[in-house]
Amino acid sequence: MKIPSSILTLVAGILLTGVSFWVGQHHGLLPIAASKEAFLVDGLFNTMMTISVGLFIIVQGAIVFAAIRFRHRLGDDTDALPIHGNIPLEIFWTAIPAIVVLGLAVYSFDVYTQIGGRDPMDHSAQAQSSSAIAQVPGSAMAAPLPSNNIESNNVVGEAAPSESGTVAIANQNSPSSALAVNVAAMQFAWIFNYPDSGVMAGELHVPLGREVRVNLSANDVIHAFWVPEFRLKQDAVPGRESVLSFTPTSLGTYPLICAELCGAYHGAMKSQVIVETPAEFDSWLQTQIASGTIDSETAIAQNPASMTSTEFLAPYAKEIGITPQALEQLHHTDDVNQHLA
Ligand code: CUA
Repeated sequence: MKIPSSILTLVAGILLTGVSFWVGQHHGLLPIAASKEAFLVDGLFNTMMTISVGLFIIVQGAIVFAAIRFRHRLGDDTDALPIHGNIPLEIFWTAIPAIVVLGLAVYSFDVYTQIGGRDPMDHSAQAQSSSAIAQVPGSAMAAPLPSNNIESNNVVGEAAPSESGTVAIANQNSPSSALAVNVAAMQFAWIFNYPDSGVMAGELHVPLGREVRVNLSANDVIHAFWVPEFRLKQDAVPGRESVLSFTPTSLGTYPLICAELCGAYHGAMKSQVIVETPAEFDSWLQTQIASGTIDSETAIAQNPASMTSTEFLAPYAKEIGITPQALEQLHHTDDVNQHLA
């Protein structure tokens, strides 16, 4: 019995769609999604993955099918049929990718807009991070600060309960309550500054469920702020402030990686993002306030740019079994060059 080719095509089409959708949802290529915005990016990525898997199967399937079906057979020395193009087919395979690409362009632009990509120079965000806040003590922005809780209660008035913890939670729901963090990138470290409290740190602590507004700047060359679990990547350009915002939705510690080749120790320019409960975050802030800016000094002291090559490489050299003396010899010429320069 011969199965009609239209039925075969239909079954193949259903299988192809099924496999594409399944792989698009189960590819397992992305780390966990730890921010509210991550799901938008994942939706786009999964859609592209679905389309790519479908195209891959069609193209590879056609190649494999043709290689087997039209293979050279023993004793067959004839030429193939002369084919001079097929205009409907060419229109078809030009139009389909054009429609797919246009659709993806519209979809990705929509995601870009939703995650705030179109207002990089958002002035309200910049005002939050600058002196505007300092001039208005007790504003909603200052609410999470232990020292300002009494003042903020006065400002919020009858609407807010008197317990300071509850005020902080109430403020989380208002758009102006985003936590401002100034992030400075430099060769080869990240410095985080919380303008509302004056805290400086070498790692980024953020409270769960509250919007964070990052004002990103670079001190020397271009770096890039990349947190894969937040699906967030933004260049830090010297002389320019970039604003990005995200809302952490999952407790944990995530890597923060410099994603722009910025010099010899670019690969070592890493930090971490710690998402904690609001209570843990507040107590961390208090500890930082109590201990002054020791953390930022530590971060600067660890800045490899201020170390000699030998100092920087020592821990790595130990790991791979090179003695400090051997390392010294290796880098002797470097150091001589540095002294000459
Ligand atoms: Cu900073 Cu790479």
